[in-house]
Parts: sequence; C-alpha cells; structure tokens
Amino acid sequence: MNYKIEVLENKIKESLKTLGYELDNVTINPSNRPDLGDYQFNGIMPLAKTYHKNPVEIANELVPLVKEYEEIKEASVAGPGFINLTFSDNFLIDFMNESNKNIEINYNLGINKTIFLDYGGPNVAKVLHVGHLRSGNIGEALKRLCEAVGCKTISDVHLGDWGRPMGMVILEIKTRHPELAYFKEDYSGEEVDFEITNDDLLELYPIATTKAKEDEAIMEEARKINLDLQNKHIGYYSLWKKIAEVSINEVKRIYKDLNVSFDLWEGESNSYDYIDAVFKYLYSQNIVEESEGAQVIDVKKDDDKIEVPPLILVKSNGAASYAATDLAAIWERTRNYPSDEIWYLTDKRQELHFNQVFRASYKSKMVDEKIKLIWNGFGTMNGPDGKPFKTRDGGVMPLSTLLDMVTAECEKRLMDSITENRYETARTIAVAAIKYADLLPFRTTDYNFDIEKFTDLNGKTGTYLLYSTIRMKSLLNKAKEAGVEFNDIIKISTEAERKIILAMLDLRRIIKRSFENCSLNEIAEYLYKITNLYNNFYAENKIIPEENSEVRASWLALSNIIYNNNLYLLNLLGINIPEKM
Ligand code: ARG
Repeated sequence: MNYKIEVLENKIKESLKTLGYELDNVTINPSNRPDLGDYQFNGIMPLAKTYHKNPVEIANELVPLVKEYEEIKEASVAGPGFINLTFSDNFLIDFMNESNKNIEINYNLGINKTIFLDYGGPNVAKVLHVGHLRSGNIGEALKRLCEAVGCKTISDVHLGDWGRPMGMVILEIKTRHPELAYFKEDYSGEEVDFEITNDDLLELYPIATTKAKEDEAIMEEARKINLDLQNKHIGYYSLWKKIAEVSINEVKRIYKDLNVSFDLWEGESNSYDYIDAVFKYLYSQNIVEESEGAQVIDVKKDDDKIEVPPLILVKSNGAASYAATDLAAIWERTRNYPSDEIWYLTDKRQELHFNQVFRASYKSKMVDEKIKLIWNGFGTMNGPDGKPFKTRDGGVMPLSTLLDMVTAECEKRLMDSITENRYETARTIAVAAIKYADLLPFRTTDYNFDIEKFTDLNGKTGTYLLYSTIRMKSLLNKAKEAGVEFNDIIKISTEAERKIILAMLDLRRIIKRSFENCSLNEIAEYLYKITNLYNNFYAENKIIPEENSEVRASWLALSNIIYNNNLYLLNLLGINIPEKM
C-alpha cells in the first residue's frame, strides 16, 4: 500500500542511506510552526547521537537532496537540526484529487486482522442505562474503525441473560401468577397465553431482587428455580425465553435508534452451554484450587504492582461465577469464530474481572498466546452535577429517557420551516449530539451530561457538524442546479484552502493513532477541526459567484471532497445525517 506521506518518508530514508546513515523509522509530522513549514522532520537528533555528529551538519547534508523531491517546494534547517518542509502545490493537488476518486485511501491502513468485538452488554429484564449507551456507542464506532483500516470484524452484544437474577424474576412472576401453565407439572412447552411487557419487567426486577436479598427463604427458592432453569426445566426455560425476547426487542429498538448493530445476539446463556467443557478442561490442567469453599484459579504474577486476587470460578454456594461465563464465552469464540483479537468494551470498573479472566485463559493454555484478548474500559457519563446520572426520583437514568429528553430539546430548537418529519429529524440530531459528546473525550475519561452544551449549534457538537455538513451538500446541489461544472482541483488560490488540504493530509495519522489507542476522541476532534477550517474558507469566499472558472471549479471540488470525507467520518462514528435541518 502506497500513500503520499509514506512515500515521502521512504524517500527521506533512501536519501539518508545515500549519505551513509541508517534510520529505521523515518516519520514526518505536521509542523508546530506552520509559519515555517507544513511538516517537520525531527529524526536527525537520534541519528546524530548514533553517528556522533553534529545534527545541524547532517541536516545540511540532507536538505539539498530533499529540495530535489517533486513533492517539496521548500526545505530548510531549523533550530538544533530539525528540517522544515513546505509541500509543492502539485503534490497537494494530486493528493486531493486521489482522495476525490477514492476517499478510502485515507483510511485503509492494510491491517487485515479479524477482530471479535464484545460490546453493548445489556441485561435481560433490567433497564438499559447510560453505561450501555457508552459501550454500544464506543463499540460500534470502534468496529467501524476496524473495518475502515482493513480488518474483518465479528460483533456480539453479549447479553447478561443468565444467572440468579433470572431465578428471582421467574419466582416473582410465579408468585404473582401461580396459575400459569409454565408452573404446572404436565407443561410440555406449548404456547402460553401470557403477556408481559418491558415496562412490566422493569417494575418487577427491583422488587424481585430486593425480596430475595431480604428473605433467605425467597433467595433459596430463586436459587432452586435458577438451577432448574440452567438444567432447562421446560416451564422455566419457556418463560425465560419469553422474558429474554421482550428485553431483546426493547434493546434492539433503542440500539437501532442509536445506529448500533451486531452480527451476533448471543449472551451468557449461550456461553453456558460450554461451561462443562471448560470446567473439565480447567480441572485437567490442575490449576483449580479450593479456597474457603469456592473453586479458584490463582492468577497473580511475580511483578504485580497491586495484588491480583484469585479468579473465582465456582462460588462457595456452588454457582458458576461471572468469570466462569466469560471463560466459557472465550472457549466458544475461539472455536466458533476464530479471530486474531477479542476486544471487550465495558465500564472501567470491570478491569479486574477481565484481567483475571485473560490471565486464566492464557495460564490454562485455553487460549493461544498469539490471540490477543484486549479489554477497553471506558469512563462514566455522569449527571449534570458530576455525580452518577439519576432520574428525578433518584433511580438510574434509563437510556430511553435520556434519548427522549434530548430529542425534545432538539425538536424545540428545530426551525419552524421544517414541517415534515419533525420528530424523526429531531431524533437524528439528538442521537448525533449524544453520540458525538460521548466519543469526544478520551475513552477512559468521565464526563458530565450537559444538554445545552451537547446540542449547541455553535459549539463543538454533533449538531454543529450535521448543520455544517448539510450546508456543504446544499452548496454542491446549488452548483449542480446552476449547471456549474467541477471535477478535480486545478489550483490552490487561498491560504484557507491550503489549511484544509493539510488537515486532509493528516487524516491517516489520526486514523492510525485512534486505532492503536482504541479511542475515537482524536477522530471526533479532527472532524470538528476540518469542518471548522472548511467553514472559515466558506465564510471568506463566495464560491458559486466566483468568476474565474478554474478557481470556482477547484473550490467546488474541494467542497465535494470535504463533504464526502465528513460523510465518511460521521458514518465511522456511527452518526446519521438528517435530510434537512
Ligand atoms: N452485562 C454486563 C454488564 O451490564 C456487561 C457484559 C460485558 N461483556 C462480557 N463478556 N462480560 O455489566
């Protein structure tokens, strides 16, 4: 794969070689003194150290060679041995026209791994909250980033659909409706006339779990039901399937609005099918020990800075742990969905859990060292007061309530002229506002929800980005309607254009780093930056009325590239664009 900056870096490497210097990693970067040059080469210092030479001397040898490159208009030595580079217009124009033909050249890094992503992680019968927003949102965007750089992906929602709370919920239903066929001795799996909604489940869940916690007899009963359920007792299993279906439909509805999707809708219950095989394997490796009535695996390492406690495989009450289901999930995935890496997206608080699970996977040799298990934790979205996000009556903030709140705000701000699909438009803008605000901080950073700030049309917001991108589209449509011809960039005539092009040239570096950091924050920042640069250019020039036809065509071509690139970036972040706003 060939790319202009990389080609240039290789040329520098070759020139250094002709001068008798070997430098493995030649990189040039955007200059932090744009008045002196577009890019900078800072690699002379380490080289001078290796060759025991004065860096300025080496720089002076290199500059005349660099000046000969067709890409370079000007090169000069600065400070203690940096080289400032100014690109030729032809180089910049060629690059842009290549992007005009195929925007993907800026994204595809030729990384062809298969990456399995586990994100979303909603729980059956439980409310979908802002934590599930972050996991879904960041996971979806990371999946798209993986694909953009050239990888194949497999995505799994990994529902929390198994375990004792399921027993508690079933018991509560049984207490309320003992007459249901599910609970009869002779039930054999036929359809039962029983309606339960997601709202019913949300009402029921906290009651069921509190009752069990407060009353040992109820807990014991729930435990029994859960055990029967895990052994696929036909009545409980059929009821559980119904509950899971109701929850999954609600999750699908909300994730659809959020543009979050999955290849697999599996969950802990699917992993559970492999639990016996996993236990058998782990015991055969002689790494499971008994500790205070529980079955554990020691996963500490000699160089641990903080203590890593043993992974609990089976709790003292005999139940398989959360860690056990994750080991089973890994067992299943490595067999059924071979991949090079498995990425997990969860709240920062699950760090220890995944650390233990990963260590146990490698220690037991259940997973080959070549397969990378990667946990990507994220920070919390807090309420406007900086404390965990709560509803007015003190409960956890359901994701649907949050979405409705922001949609209402966006609808209020929508122009009166938008009469058709007002709600849908407001919804799309609201989702963009929330998702953009969510992707903007570095993944692990906590942030506060701020409805005013997130929806501000003049701020660093999804709203601003949508508005600006739609304006680019309408400019291009107007030009087409007026029959103005444009195709490629022919010339660069203003400083504002040059700045936009230099930002485009930097895109690949941003993509690469974002992929390495598994974070979207730099891409979100970049989208804002390039949109702003374009808007400055747009404000300074009257594009369609411009009389010089070469200038006008170049400006429109530039607008077309930035528009397409914005579409690509918004889509990468999982953000949809309304028709109008
Ligand atoms: N259901 C979990 C939760 O709500 C998240 C699941 C994350 N994925 C996993 N393989 N453990 O916290």
